[in-house]
Amino acid sequence: MYKNIGDVRQEFLNFFKRKGHEIVLGSTLIPNNDQTLLFTNSGMNQFKNVFLGIDKPLFRRVATAQRCVRAGGKHNDLDNVGYTERHLTFFEMLGNFSFGDYFKDEAIQFAWELLTDPHWFNLPKNKLWVTVHSRDCESYDIWVKKIDIPNEHVVKIGSNINDFCDSDNFWQMGNVGPCGPCSEIFYDHGDRFYGGPPGSLEGFGERYVEIWNLVFMEFYRQENGLLLSLPMFSVDTGMGLERITSILQGVHSSYSIDIFKKLISSISEIVQVNDDIYMNRSLYVIADHIRACSFLIQDGVIPSNEGRGYVLRRIIRRAILHGKRLGINDIFFYKLVTPLIEHMNHIAELLYASKNFIEKILITEEKLFEDTLKRGLELLEKQLVQLTGNILKGEIAFYLYDTYGLPLELTKDICLKRGIHVDQVGFDRSMIIQKKCTKASNKFDATCENISRCDISNIFIGYNELICKSRVIALFQENKLVNKISSEEEGIVILNSTPFYGESGGQIGDCGQLKTTSGVFQVTNTKKYGQIIGHLGIVKSGAINFGEEIVAQVDQYKRKNISLNHSATHLLRAALFHILGPHVIQKGSLVNDRYLRFDFYHHEAMQNKQINKVENIVNEKIWENFPIAVDEMPIEVARNSGVVMLRNKQYDKIVRVLSMGNFSTELCGGTHATRTGEIGVFVITKEYGIASGIRRIEAVTSDVALSIIHHYKMLLQNIFQSLQSDDKNVLTKISECKSRCRKLEKEIEYLRDKQTIQHSLSFIRDIYYVKDIRVLIKQVTNMAPKTLISTADCLKCKLKSGVIVLINIHKNNKINLVVAVTKDLIERNRINALDLVHCIINTLGGKGGGKPDLAQAGINNMVPISKVSIEVDSLLHDIL
Ligand code: ALA
Repeated sequence: MYKNIGDVRQEFLNFFKRKGHEIVLGSTLIPNNDQTLLFTNSGMNQFKNVFLGIDKPLFRRVATAQRCVRAGGKHNDLDNVGYTERHLTFFEMLGNFSFGDYFKDEAIQFAWELLTDPHWFNLPKNKLWVTVHSRDCESYDIWVKKIDIPNEHVVKIGSNINDFCDSDNFWQMGNVGPCGPCSEIFYDHGDRFYGGPPGSLEGFGERYVEIWNLVFMEFYRQENGLLLSLPMFSVDTGMGLERITSILQGVHSSYSIDIFKKLISSISEIVQVNDDIYMNRSLYVIADHIRACSFLIQDGVIPSNEGRGYVLRRIIRRAILHGKRLGINDIFFYKLVTPLIEHMNHIAELLYASKNFIEKILITEEKLFEDTLKRGLELLEKQLVQLTGNILKGEIAFYLYDTYGLPLELTKDICLKRGIHVDQVGFDRSMIIQKKCTKASNKFDATCENISRCDISNIFIGYNELICKSRVIALFQENKLVNKISSEEEGIVILNSTPFYGESGGQIGDCGQLKTTSGVFQVTNTKKYGQIIGHLGIVKSGAINFGEEIVAQVDQYKRKNISLNHSATHLLRAALFHILGPHVIQKGSLVNDRYLRFDFYHHEAMQNKQINKVENIVNEKIWENFPIAVDEMPIEVARNSGVVMLRNKQYDKIVRVLSMGNFSTELCGGTHATRTGEIGVFVITKEYGIASGIRRIEAVTSDVALSIIHHYKMLLQNIFQSLQSDDKNVLTKISECKSRCRKLEKEIEYLRDKQTIQHSLSFIRDIYYVKDIRVLIKQVTNMAPKTLISTADCLKCKLKSGVIVLINIHKNNKINLVVAVTKDLIERNRINALDLVHCIINTLGGKGGGKPDLAQAGINNMVPISKVSIEVDSLLHDIL
């Protein structure tokens, strides 16, 4: 029976549901709270802290269909797309997970049953091959003895005797993190295709394709490479949905499955290219990339010059260049969002709401790339004009590629037409250097993992209490556990319960004091390490000892202001949603005791009218004085009732829903006012763009808002006073002042000019003769261009017959000069200004031009100032 991709996905989830797994939603493509990863690239990412034992698992058995992007970072398939039948930058990974529940035995049996049972995928057993880690005898035995797979179909993939991790069958998420040996299942597409079984020399071919990876998570790999045992044994598996679908649909290529066939055919219609996909590999690339780009934008990535945004930009540009290869010259990529949504209906509901936004971002980016390409080509042209020899440096070609997106092939083509070669070695070297830099910046940040991996826990009681008695359950200094923090020393204190809010969800951490009978610890910040709240600060007096009883007191004034700003942020978000539309999705926020900052998706600057409207709405809601209610409920209930949630966040099973009347309902773990009226007043102080498609609003509330209003009032009063005006005529006064200023500036300029010219007339004293011609060569400093010319003209009149050369030395030692020649000498063919300027440039270097009676030149910077007049004089002697 034919299964479409949606059926395959659903069957996988149904199978594992039957096996007692909880079906959990995939996370977004931006990994939550994980700076080590560019994009979600595997189903296990969202459970990283569970594998590490930092978070407690909500369920012991879980299954997901996780959207993944493998472009940039450790697992990067971008450059393979379009060249193989199986690589995709965007795909869905089907996975089942066990957190300390079943291990190798059941994981292998589940996989085998789903793949081969006639009720499920019903694949012929003789087509399946598996690999195991060469030292994982247990898995080998399960495959051979329990599953009864012929042992020639089970391949042991070797590892260096001294390095357990050095094997294709050892999977690790990154250089640091959870990892373990794995067993992979392959499908043999038959001898129509080139390739050998896994582990053989021809293993890289397309005949045997890996479909499922079963990872047995046992270790935590530290930065120094050592493996630590994890607190529990777990299972993480991943099967590419598109690959298994291709097998179930009886096709070899992932690009030949139902969704790709439809998508490619729609694309070829839109761009009017023959969809013979064997001819048009570029269509593969475009189809893959529109999926990756749309989901990345939907999940909050915006094209930019660094990090995730940079990778997105490269994918978009790669698609556009493939479009150009197909002969498309107009912007086209954005047009593919519509067919994508239509054909990916099994997960496209995610894209519906953001469709306009995705299209707008793509249009902007395509236009930008057109301009950039144009500039890149101009720059290449300049380089080629200046080139001596016939080799273009690889570093230059790389720069053009990296900064302007100019593909190496294009640069090579253009060069070739002029008989120039591109230095490929230099290009490759630059590429390697760049990759090394990217790798270095992707390194895992192990700081504070020590705290989160400690076997301690504490509770937060600070929603209702700001002071409490508690006990010191751990002390840290420089990332190490200690028994005591002495006077004037810094450290981190962990209490068994605390009213201090740990920085999270955009809200800064609390400050305050921890007091024991003998010591005082000043808390300067509070942070969360996994689930553990740590108080950072310094011992002001005495010492803080492990196990001591302590009184913890939050700085109330600061906390109150933070809470007011946090509540105002929720009102602001809801007001923006009303005024600008549903695409206003939070991109980030910061809430402290002085102000609030809210970043959101919106494609253009807000108009003043819109800003005022938003400000009005928020203030109205403040004055309505809604109670701010908090309810705890299961995440599904919250999701079903339409509560606003952040896209990039993994929520607990029970969530905290914060509502302000009917106006705003959001998930939030932060601290808040009890009624909106407490916020008092809300003022937006700034609205500006922080990246393409992202705006930022800064605002203040309560007494800070009042003091800002006072500040502006004072400022206005001072302005009124100094302009002797009031609010009715202040603008007229300002424009009067400005035009008077302009008039006076002009007058000053005129007078200065006149004065300079007057002064220059005294130069006449320095006239001398070359042959029978009167010559004046004079050095001046810092003259404005206009004055220089007027002076030369004036001197010309005074001189009646002769040659004037004014050499103007600027502050930065640049030299320009003006040459004036009287009419009689031109008519008698004795000399003309333009010829002299050309001679000067030829001798001294530089650029210039003009007319026979007046010409100018800029002299090469390297010429010593003293040399200029001597050279001009000697040239005059030659010419006259
Ligand atoms: N996490 C494993 C992978 O990505 C399943 O291959």
